[in-house]
Amino acid sequence: MSTLLETLEIAFSEAFEALGFPKACGTVRESDRPDLAPFQCNGAMMAAGILKKKGETPNPRNIASQVVAAVQGHPAVATLEIAGPGFINITPTLSEVSDRANGIAGDIKTGATTHISQKIIIDYGGANVAKPMHVGHLRSAVIGECLKRLLRFQGHSVIGDVHLGDWGLQMGHLITELEDEQPGLPYFDVSKTEGFPKKSPVTMEDLARLYPNASHKAKTDPQRMTRSREATAELQQGRAGYRALLEHFITVSIAALKQGYGAMGVEFDLWKGEAAVDALIPDMIQGFKDQGIAEESDGALIIRVAREDDKAEIPPVMLLARSGAVLYHTTDLATLVDRKAEIDPDKILYVVDQRQALHFTQVFRAAVKAGWYDEDQMEHLGFGTMNGKDGKPFKTRDGGVLRLDDLLDLMTDSANTRLIEAGIGQDFDETERMDIARKVGIAALKFADLQNQRTTNYIFEPERFTAFEGKTGPYLLYATVRIKSILRKAKSLNVEAGPITISEPAETQLVLALDAFDRALTLASTKYAPHILCEHIFRVAQNFSRFYTDCPILVDGTNPALKASRLNLAQTTLRQLEHGLQILGIETPDRM
Ligand code: ARG
Repeated sequence: MSTLLETLEIAFSEAFEALGFPKACGTVRESDRPDLAPFQCNGAMMAAGILKKKGETPNPRNIASQVVAAVQGHPAVATLEIAGPGFINITPTLSEVSDRANGIAGDIKTGATTHISQKIIIDYGGANVAKPMHVGHLRSAVIGECLKRLLRFQGHSVIGDVHLGDWGLQMGHLITELEDEQPGLPYFDVSKTEGFPKKSPVTMEDLARLYPNASHKAKTDPQRMTRSREATAELQQGRAGYRALLEHFITVSIAALKQGYGAMGVEFDLWKGEAAVDALIPDMIQGFKDQGIAEESDGALIIRVAREDDKAEIPPVMLLARSGAVLYHTTDLATLVDRKAEIDPDKILYVVDQRQALHFTQVFRAAVKAGWYDEDQMEHLGFGTMNGKDGKPFKTRDGGVLRLDDLLDLMTDSANTRLIEAGIGQDFDETERMDIARKVGIAALKFADLQNQRTTNYIFEPERFTAFEGKTGPYLLYATVRIKSILRKAKSLNVEAGPITISEPAETQLVLALDAFDRALTLASTKYAPHILCEHIFRVAQNFSRFYTDCPILVDGTNPALKASRLNLAQTTLRQLEHGLQILGIETPDRM
């Protein structure tokens, strides 16, 4: 099923081709001047440019007239007007708009096309075991989840992997700190190699205490730091008791993280991490050596990845530190080996803080050098930081990192205040009211995050995010809930949806907005830019609002066919809004 724009584009492309011009001249787009006409074709200027290159002196307005003469009379075209140097303004017929509306209404995906399926891994979340989740992890989770849902909606087969940070110094900190607290545990007995208890010696609360304690001490006490480093090295070399402890730390952390991410509507298919690929490292390093890619430098093992045309210096990949320890580069490379073997994806997307851009450039180059992947199979999708009012990455009042659950509580409180102000849901029982406040709070946070261009920073302003007016999550929730209530009312009045017939301008505008869904999805997914979808959803909600003001649906006196048509339009709008919000990872309450 073609969109309105595509139908027009086919007509214009054929007209240009018949005149001996390339098809691309027939490109149609949404107009910059929607007050004049909803669509425009600027191909006459392009065509004139082509003739000019051949030494002719064409008049683009004449070309436009010829095209207009050819397209005039097409069933989708109501009026064509030539403006300025040769722009063609296009207004579609109401019957074409109605057809398209019925097409969208009859489509499960409300007008979105399904694409050739690729196998895509999205590496996002990236929480570190036992370290508190910070704001960087929040954005990664929100954006990554949205991209996963977007690509899935388009028909791709997408696997989300949390890629836990579970192989670094924090493990050494935990081990040594636990040893100080409970030296008698069997895990610290070097001679013991098996038969460790199945039950974890620590809870999440323990981990949350042990890590900061150790890290704090190590900052001022070099000896304490050395112990943690040594424990990390021993763990990586395979000391059995430490490995057994690591398993417990990971299991306990995953259970807590599942809850934390789950509360935000973020779900992973794979809960792998750095430790999971440790066993692949020796062979990988041997492979690099055999290929002659890895070399020794200053006692460390490196891969040079600089290229001649680099504008800035790209330092080598560090495979092994002088101490023999594996590094962040190493585990990411081993993860690429693992993913190739286990999944063989067409593409891997890394949704990670922009500040790690260099790291990924280095890792990708090494993977290309080794011949594992093509350059365009791996992409780092960086993002900016969520900042405080001072313009620096957001901190709590005492300068600490805001925990994810505290952040969600803060959003829920702010949403609750807004609901009270607006008098929304105040007669519902406490449980439902709190559920709504929570949904509104999360919607506010996610939408505020996703509507920004991914790479820009933004300021955390909960009061603004939770406002019911403006381009906000709550505004969109309210729009959907309002349609839901119209549908409930229609049901109680026994009004049923029927074929859509468009007559009013506000109806046309709404259909034009719905028609743009597929384009928004395509653009958002090719650029990995959720803000484009946010823009679209907001546009649909706004146009619905205008439609609802101008076009009564259920009032007495509206003729039954018109009621049925408008009800269908409302219902279709709701379905598209819900698809859109679902992709953004935003849950809607039934009523508010
Ligand atoms: N754990 C890392 C951090 O906190 C993020 C991991 C991102 N993914 C990756 N494959 N390196 O910075």
